[in-house]
Amino acid sequence: MTIKPVRKAVFPVAGQGTRFLPATKAMPKEMLPVVDRPLIQYAVDEARDAGIEEFIFVTGRAKSAIEDHFDRSSELERSLEERGKLDALASIMDGVLEPGQISYTRQQQPLGLGHAVWCARNLVGDEPFAVLLADDLILAAPGCLKQMVETYNRIGGNVVAVEDVPREHTDRYGILDVSNDDGKIAEAKGLVEKPAPADAPSTLSIIGRYILQPEVFRELDRQEAGVGGEIQITDAIARTIGEVTFNGLRFDGRRFDCGNQLGFIEANIAFGLARDDISRELREVLKSY
Ligand code: UTP
Repeated sequence: MTIKPVRKAVFPVAGQGTRFLPATKAMPKEMLPVVDRPLIQYAVDEARDAGIEEFIFVTGRAKSAIEDHFDRSSELERSLEERGKLDALASIMDGVLEPGQISYTRQQQPLGLGHAVWCARNLVGDEPFAVLLADDLILAAPGCLKQMVETYNRIGGNVVAVEDVPREHTDRYGILDVSNDDGKIAEAKGLVEKPAPADAPSTLSIIGRYILQPEVFRELDRQEAGVGGEIQITDAIARTIGEVTFNGLRFDGRRFDCGNQLGFIEANIAFGLARDDISRELREVLKSY
């Protein structure tokens, strides 16, 4: 079996972010900052660190702030340089990608994550690719996608990041029907999107990191809606099991669901505490509560 390298990553950022209204009325959810960087920047940095060379954004209405964020801003760069604010200058230059490394396509209607990924099919072409959901923020070293790429380079197929969730929460996630489990990697014979706790085949849930083979596009072409009337990526992946192996990697690290308020606040605390420049003072602030 030849295992093709993962060179491209898709960032679906076309969701409406209704759980974060009113903050997301005029600003994309993916631009919410954790400490001082927007969520999408963490995802792009994680992908870059994992060796990704091409960055494909699936955007939608009111998402232009994301394109601006990854663009050069000559005026700001010049002004920071003139005023000697070199750390600030370095912080914005750090996020800039090479010309041509980044491309954008639009999901014209938010029909679900599967549909958003399908919108990137022509940019991905016939090769494996990663999908990163920026609102699942992961504190890990090495980064979660890097851990997944290392696993993928050994075993190939589809590899997703998984974690155990409380059984009462299975109806929020795609859940694995496990056939083989060595404690680190769980092979699945099926997947169920958002099962009721009583019906869930396990409590092992998919979180927002995927390495997928292009066969998934053939299934997404069917445009079949699943749970909640949305076109689900898990349904399309599930239909390729048998043809493509499916493995869940229990990554080392901690995930924060920044799509909801509590997860987002916790992420700010955890990432703040992980920062040398503010951790001591943040600890004092937290104690005062
Ligand atoms: P969510 O399920 O969190 O949906 O999407 P959402 O619309 O962003 O937020 P809520 O539930 O209304 O609060 C997970 C990821 O998939 C993208 C989102 O942008 C987010 O990164 N997504 C979702 C799309 O790109 N298109 C869609 O149609 C749905």
